[in-house]
Amino acid sequence: TADRDFVVVANRLPVDRVVRPDGEVEWRRSPGGLVTALEPIMQSRDGAWIGWSGDVDHAPEPFESDGMLLHAVPLSSKEVARYYEGFSNATLWPLYHDAVAPPEFHRSWWDTYVTVNRRFAEAAAAVAGQNAVVWIQDYQLQLVPAMLRAQRPDLRIGFFLHIPFPPTELFMQLPWRTRIVEGLLGADLIGFQLPGGAANFLRLARQLCGLQPHGRTVEVTDADGEPRVVRAEAFPISIDTKGMSDLSASPEVVQRAKELYSELGEPKHVLLGVDRLDYTKGISTRLQAYRELLEDSSITVPDTVLIQVATPSRERVEHYKALRNRIELQVGRINGDFGTLGHPAVQYLHQSYGRDELCALYRVADVMLVTPLRDGMNLVAKEYVAARTDHGGALVLSEFTGAAAELRQAYQVNPHDITHLKETIVAALNQDPAEGARRMRAMRRHVTSHDVNHWAASFLDSLRKTNA
Ligand code: UDP
Ligand code: G6P
Repeated sequence: TADRDFVVVANRLPVDRVVRPDGEVEWRRSPGGLVTALEPIMQSRDGAWIGWSGDVDHAPEPFESDGMLLHAVPLSSKEVARYYEGFSNATLWPLYHDAVAPPEFHRSWWDTYVTVNRRFAEAAAAVAGQNAVVWIQDYQLQLVPAMLRAQRPDLRIGFFLHIPFPPTELFMQLPWRTRIVEGLLGADLIGFQLPGGAANFLRLARQLCGLQPHGRTVEVTDADGEPRVVRAEAFPISIDTKGMSDLSASPEVVQRAKELYSELGEPKHVLLGVDRLDYTKGISTRLQAYRELLEDSSITVPDTVLIQVATPSRERVEHYKALRNRIELQVGRINGDFGTLGHPAVQYLHQSYGRDELCALYRVADVMLVTPLRDGMNLVAKEYVAARTDHGGALVLSEFTGAAAELRQAYQVNPHDITHLKETIVAALNQDPAEGARRMRAMRRHVTSHDVNHWAASFLDSLRKTNA
């Protein structure tokens, strides 16, 4: 029924429907940073969450879970192939991440993207109460703001892009570029991770739609002839910092961290990477740097170990398959060349871990490697900082993440520069503990004052004020 005051629309629900090999159905937490950030926000707001269940052709009746109404939108297998794997993850995802893999343009993928966006807009229109706030998320649903406004002009519509918004030269390659900009302009407020994303968008609104930006806003004319303001602004996303800190200081996690350290054979140094297995994350250059450090004996086994959690992601998309092969080959070679019996140089885990286990890993790692070639934010970097209640550890962080704009005291690095990456890893491994604690304290202050509640409150505040 159309009675919810607060509605989130995202490609995925916070839980993923998985049919186990024995036929049992299980709901698991969905992967990725979007769910990490929005879940704590939604749990305290009694809203509805509209999204896909992750399972083909399956849409259960709306159900309550953790204080929110979950409303599933069905996708057929053809739609999953064209809208999700195709247009979202083989066109937009690489294009918006600086084309670090070549984006593919197919008209049939676009057509299905339009169809599926319309379905999400209709679902939102059916669930939202009069004058409700509807908050649409991410690159999979960029046409929903305008489609929803056409049906429900009473709503207050926000949109947040979790990934980078690309430079205009790249965006201009997209055959459907004007349609995407027009789709987004249906929102009252469009949020980006960084000010540069908002600036790129406003430039395109002028170039493609002939609009004249005033500061961070443009004025559009709606179908009813009425003028409306659209605001484009940066709201860097974050984590539940207190939740992660408290978890990390809990006796269970402290104990688990001790166990892990002893299972690893109490090495002098533990390096850690935690990423979805995605070509934007820079896992391959990271492994290359690690390999070269072993080759020139800057580090040795079993004194040092690298734990790489590479969570399965988008496994049917070609580039992801190729990446997995490449990385597993690299890991195998490093272990073959430098491992000893019982002591691999890389502990590679192609698995998804829960919060508690990740938190214990963060406590064990004296160097955290976050080296994406491009990343909208990277919440793993912020989680590592939040978990270091002991002020220990060092964060090696790519300049090309959104997090780098905030975590200035990290060991920042250009991941394409493997020589510099190696030097930075060595500097982090050998940091003076007092200097490390100073850096970690400063970063902890930042993520404590700029947590996910701060993010949501700033966005929703600004949304309330736009066109008030
Ligand atoms: N994550 C997880 N289990 C894993 C790997 C990652 O729960 O095995 C979580 C991680 O803690 C973080 C999120 O997934 O909250 C990843 O967010 P990030 O912004 O770093 O990257 P994204 O996957 O969204 O590109
Ligand atoms: C990133 C995207 C999210 C997406 C997540 C996991 O965080 O910004 O929109 O949900 O990755 O990817 P998946 O394709 O499995 O939903």
